[in-house]
Amino acid sequence: MIKAFDYLRDFEAHKAEYMGALERVIRSGQLILGPEVKAFEAEFAQFVGAQHAIGVASGTDALELALLVVGVSPGDEVITVANSAVPTAAAIREVGAIPRFVEIDSQTLNIDPEAAARAVTPRTRAILPVHMHGTPIAMEPLLQIARNRNLRIIEDCAHAHGARRSGVHVGVAGDVSCFSFYPTKNLGGYGDGGICITNDSELADRLRALRMYGFGPGRIAMTDGRNSRLDELQAAVLRVKLSHLPEHLAARRRIAARYARGFSGIDVTLPFIDASADSAFHQFVIRTPLRARVVAALDAAQIGWGIHYDTPLHHMPAYREFQAGHPPLPVTDRAAREILSLPIYPELLDDEVDQVIAAVRSVLRNVR
Ligand SMILES: Cc1ncc(COP(=O)(O)O)c(C=O)c1O
Repeated sequence: MIKAFDYLRDFEAHKAEYMGALERVIRSGQLILGPEVKAFEAEFAQFVGAQHAIGVASGTDALELALLVVGVSPGDEVITVANSAVPTAAAIREVGAIPRFVEIDSQTLNIDPEAAARAVTPRTRAILPVHMHGTPIAMEPLLQIARNRNLRIIEDCAHAHGARRSGVHVGVAGDVSCFSFYPTKNLGGYGDGGICITNDSELADRLRALRMYGFGPGRIAMTDGRNSRLDELQAAVLRVKLSHLPEHLAARRRIAARYARGFSGIDVTLPFIDASADSAFHQFVIRTPLRARVVAALDAAQIGWGIHYDTPLHHMPAYREFQAGHPPLPVTDRAAREILSLPIYPELLDDEVDQVIAAVRSVLRNVR
């Protein structure tokens, strides 16, 4: 049996480090916003090349706090995509704003900048692109729109720890960018967690205040705020994981290359990664109209799989009202019918990758 995701393999490989980190925190007597969070924030900021990193309670909270600090207010419109996870839209709604779903590019499955430009209205306040499946977006066209129309950019990097474009890590182009440490992510904790990164010191200060009751110096509440803290135990775990992330990313890329070779010559669409992009391969997503048959073959071979995501947000009861009167999203809809995520995690063995390839090839025809 090959699981779609198996965090215990990593745990077994680095058990002494994880247990040591957990014991260190428990014995420290400091469980909330102590040295581990501080050290992790510094290490993560350095890894992505940002000046500030602010740990929060989840990736959804990271998005919500980011939207708040850049000034998105109730009734504002935020341009985003419908092929994302629910939290992307949930965060927009949590600040009272309106998600404006636009079409994706048929090759990258990332936001189509021309569609984004067409969707700007006087109410638009921000663009929220998602680096889907770990494929880094070419940000320049979006930055241009933001400059021309005075919009803010919040990048959803939940899939993209380690994704780079021309050597630059995703997330440093936007005003604030957000990562999730949900257990399945490339950098996943043993529970919930998230982080905002920014190069703007003022935004960083506001994020730090917002995650803890609006505190200023002396624990005096200076603004509205809430409790959204990354805790010391998760930070200690994430420090161990971050130290292994470069080798984990290399392993993901090796597996992706093996899949790509294994699928050559058959009728399937592979992830589109252009020459300047270094995907984080959070997911390895193939596309085929015969998805149901491929899924049946994987099930029969006891191979796990996933669909990220099968119901686009603009079809969900919570969000469909926001699509009324706007152009349909045929590329998004078609992708949702055809995408299929195959197992990809650093500890996956070559032999297991080959079993996945064989199961997929058993269904899909050779291209003539
Ligand atoms: C694209 C995307 N955005 C945001 C999130 C939210 O992260 P979290 O689950 O940490 O709140 C996730 C993960 O679930 C995600 O996949």
